[in-house]
This record gives sequence, structure tokens and C-alpha cells, in this order.
Amino acid sequence: MAKSRPYIILSNAISIDGKISSKTGDSKLSSKKDLKRLHRLRSKVDAILVGKNTVHRDDPLLTVRHVKGNSPVRVVLDSNGSISENSKILKTCDKVFTIVAVSEKISKKNLDKLSRFPIEIIHSGKTCVNLKILLKKLFKKNITKILVEGGGTVNWQFIKEGLFDEAIITISPTLLGGEDSVSLVQGNGFAKISESPKLRLKSIKRLDNQVVLHYSKL
Ligand SMILES: NC(=O)c1ccc[n+]([C@@H]2O[C@H](COP(=O)([O-])OP(=O)(O)OC[C@H]3O[C@@H](n4cnc5c(N)ncnc54)[C@H](OP(=O)(O)O)[C@@H]3O)[C@@H](O)[C@H]2O)c1
Repeated sequence: MAKSRPYIILSNAISIDGKISSKTGDSKLSSKKDLKRLHRLRSKVDAILVGKNTVHRDDPLLTVRHVKGNSPVRVVLDSNGSISENSKILKTCDKVFTIVAVSEKISKKNLDKLSRFPIEIIHSGKTCVNLKILLKKLFKKNITKILVEGGGTVNWQFIKEGLFDEAIITISPTLLGGEDSVSLVQGNGFAKISESPKLRLKSIKRLDNQVVLHYSKL
């Protein structure tokens, strides 16, 4: 385990052509069996982290429901604090500990809005959340293992900064296409394969018609 930051697992379900949602935002790519696997994994980490767009588009609960177990802390990266008051995450924040990570650019209006909820607000970064600082702060709160559940922009940032230890990718037997459909990794991308992180295939698990690939970062 890394010493100054939590252990980080990237986790997403993709289509065969590497999309994590269709062009209209349909992202339910996991089968029931895969959801059970995912929720078991959720119950073993200290926190689940997602980006703001995922909250806007999917309105997820990010809890443990398909297996027995405790729900971990939920962390949303939301530089301007624009998460909706009607989102399931804010509506359930009295039951599941929730952290909204914001940047210095957050407006007073949005800060006031967030402050009305029983959540923790963590500030870092000038215009967007500074991941290294955020991870250090989370680590100090005894959050030692985080499941990063996307979306593509968040995945890119963690990969670009080398801030992950494992990646668990479920491949769903679907071909989605679409230039505007979100890919597993968005952002600028690497210019050369040699610049991208080196991964070791740890295991391949078949769940009926889906495949779960488990990689560790070398
Ligand atoms: N199939 C799956 O497993 C799965 C899982 C999750 C999501 N999804 C899909 O992914 C799509 C959303 O992906 P997305 O790429 O559009 O957005 P995203 O990764 O969910 O969120 C990105 C946003 O997070 C905020 N952010 C703040 N600090 C950041 C930082 N340091 N690094 C990166 N982002 C930061 C930024 O908005 P601000 O600048 O406003 O803060 C950024 O635009 C949705 O359609 C969802 O359905 C699929």
C-alpha cells in the first residue's frame, strides 16, 4: 500500500468498444451478478469516489445494496459545488457519510447551499479539485482504500497522475459506438503507448456473458 495516499482501485463497466455510457447517457452495463460483485467490493473499501457529471447524469446512490455490508463514505468531485439538492446523494447524506470535494472557485451561493446539508466539504485546488491534496486529506481521515467509479474524465485524471493501484473492468457484451458516448478514459490521452501506465493482468473472471478483468499497476 502507498504510504501517503489511500490505495486506489479504478472500477467501471464498459461495452466491448470501451464506452461507459451510450450517447444518451445510458450506463447500466453491469449484469445482476456483476452488480453483486461490485457491491461486495464496495463493502470492503473505505470510500467510493465519482465525478460531478456522473452524479448529474446517473443520479446514483453509491451504497451497498445487492449484498450485506456497510456502505462506505461517498466522495463527489465537484469544483463549483453544483451538485443538485435533489440528487439522491444529497437526499441520503444524513444516512451515508458524504464528502463533496470542491475547489477555491466555488461560489458563495453554492457553498451556502452545500452547507445546509450534513456533509463534509473539502477544499483543494484553484479551479478544479487537486487530487493529490484531496487524497492526502482523505488519508488523514483514515480513508485508506478508495474505489473510483468514474466517469471517464475522473478516470483520466487519476490515470494521468498515476494515482491508482488496481483497475477492475467489466466488459459487457454490447457495442455502443457514438463519438459523444463517454469512453472509459476521456481527457487528452497519452501521445504514446510507452507513456501510459504499465499494467499486469491479475485475473480474468467470467460472469455468464460478462468478463471481469482485474489489473494491477506495475
Ligand atoms: N459504466 C460505468 O461503470 C460508469 C460509471 C460511472 C459513470 N459512468 C458514466 O460516465 C459519464 C460521466 O463521465 P464524464 O467523463 O462526463 O464525467 P465525470 O468523470 O463523472 O465527472 C467529471 C467532472 O468532475 C469534476 N472534477 C472536479 N475535479 C476533478 C478532477 N480533479 N479530475 C476530474 N474531474 C474533476 C469536473 O467538473 P467541475 O469542473 O464542474 O468540478 C469534471 O468535469 C456518465 O454518462 C455516466 O453515466 C459510467
